[in-house]
Amino acid sequence: MEILPLHLRPEHAPVIALWAYDEWYNDRSLDYDTVRRAFLARTKDDSLPQSFVAVDGPVPVGMVTLKLDDLWTRKDLNPWLSSLYVVPGRRNEGIGHALVCAVISRAAYLGYDSLYLFLGQSDPDRLERYYSEKGWRAIGAAKDNDGLETMVMMYSLPRPG
Ligand SMILES: CC(C)(COP(=O)(O)OP(=O)(O)OC[C@H]1O[C@@H](n2cnc3c(N)ncnc32)[C@H](O)[C@@H]1OP(=O)(O)O)[C@@H](O)C(=O)NCCC(=O)NCCS
Repeated sequence: MEILPLHLRPEHAPVIALWAYDEWYNDRSLDYDTVRRAFLARTKDDSLPQSFVAVDGPVPVGMVTLKLDDLWTRKDLNPWLSSLYVVPGRRNEGIGHALVCAVISRAAYLGYDSLYLFLGQSDPDRLERYYSEKGWRAIGAAKDNDGLETMVMMYSLPRPG
């Protein structure tokens, strides 16, 4: 298993767009093709938003994105770890952790001091524990992009070197 920037594996953009659509967007007005085009746009180079894909040989098994302005109510905070996802059959193997580490490394390399995320609506307590164990800390509640209450978490980035 390895973690690669999506621009090195552009062929996986449609499937990771499908994961994102199924997990986060299919009960909204956003259609699959819009999500697919957003991920295809990330296959050109390593600029933000930058997605990473976990691959097991030719098979994609997980994804994550580093992006700006993910939470519209907290545009004072940047950048954000977003869209962390591992396929159900490959969970609890550390793939999620490896994806989080890839985004931490990239954000630190780009010179940011801190990284942020907000918790999804499904089982936020478990997710808060998951990230807390990895060194993230909850910094306060906010409204998510659907107007629902969410928790913002922060990670202090190491200096690149
Ligand atoms: C959240 C998510 C990305 C985690 O992915 P994952 O690959 O299972 O994550 P990890 O393997 O790093 O860790 C999961 C658990 O397995 C444990 N684990 C890690 N490596 C392990 C290993 N080699 N053997 C056994 N267990 C292991 C971790 O300690 C962790 O335990 P915890 O749930 O008690 O904290 C995944 O559950 C998912 O895609 N969920 C749906 C989308 C989602 O909620 N995304 C987050 C949005 S904020």
